[in-house]
Amino acid sequence: MTDVSKTTFSRRGFLKGAGVTAATTVIESANALARETKSALQQERAVGPDALPVKLHINGQEHSVTIEPRYTLAETLRDNLGLTGTKVVCDRGSCSACTVWIDDTPALACMTLAIDAVGRKITTIEGLSHGDTMHEVQAAFVKHDAMQCGFCTPGMVMSCAALLKRNPNPSLDDVKQAVSGNLCRCGTYPKIFEATLNVAQQRNSAASLVTLTGREA
Ligand code: FES
Ligand code: FES
Repeated sequence: MTDVSKTTFSRRGFLKGAGVTAATTVIESANALARETKSALQQERAVGPDALPVKLHINGQEHSVTIEPRYTLAETLRDNLGLTGTKVVCDRGSCSACTVWIDDTPALACMTLAIDAVGRKITTIEGLSHGDTMHEVQAAFVKHDAMQCGFCTPGMVMSCAALLKRNPNPSLDDVKQAVSGNLCRCGTYPKIFEATLNVAQQRNSAASLVTLTGREA
């Protein structure tokens, strides 16, 4: 029979050994993480603070512009490209006056760095109309008198037109939800709801007419 008291194995020794192994594993993992982070940082290309040339795809056209990396999309559109339809009111993401579409989704241009919009499809209020022909939502805003000072209007139109793209048959609550981030200090909300619902109704009646007659009205 083995005399346990004479073996070199002990509980204390086991715990010490396990502790050393665990500590070694932690140090090796930390070193591996540090190596990976260093390599990732070496691969990143630092930009700025000097201006750099970028290409932005706006309203179906490519625009070359030289901007500092800190420039927002709103500043770049207005100050560098002369697209002043996009309004800047709060400049801090709380009013949605600066709403544009990025890849067909409403986004706040004052909260987006222009360099982050490189390679994306940007649509501004200028891109909604076709020459002198207004977009249906713009025309409905005029018809329903859905504006007063007009500072919120481009952002409102972008939000309402985006809603009709994703939901052709919105309810009043859907419209309210779609513009819930758009602030209108002049209080034109009822007219904005009316205009947007009217566009949806007109589109739907035109679509039913096509279905009934088999051709476009
Ligand atoms: S100007 Fe961008 S959210 Fe107000
Ligand atoms: S029309 Fe003046 S803020 Fe909306």
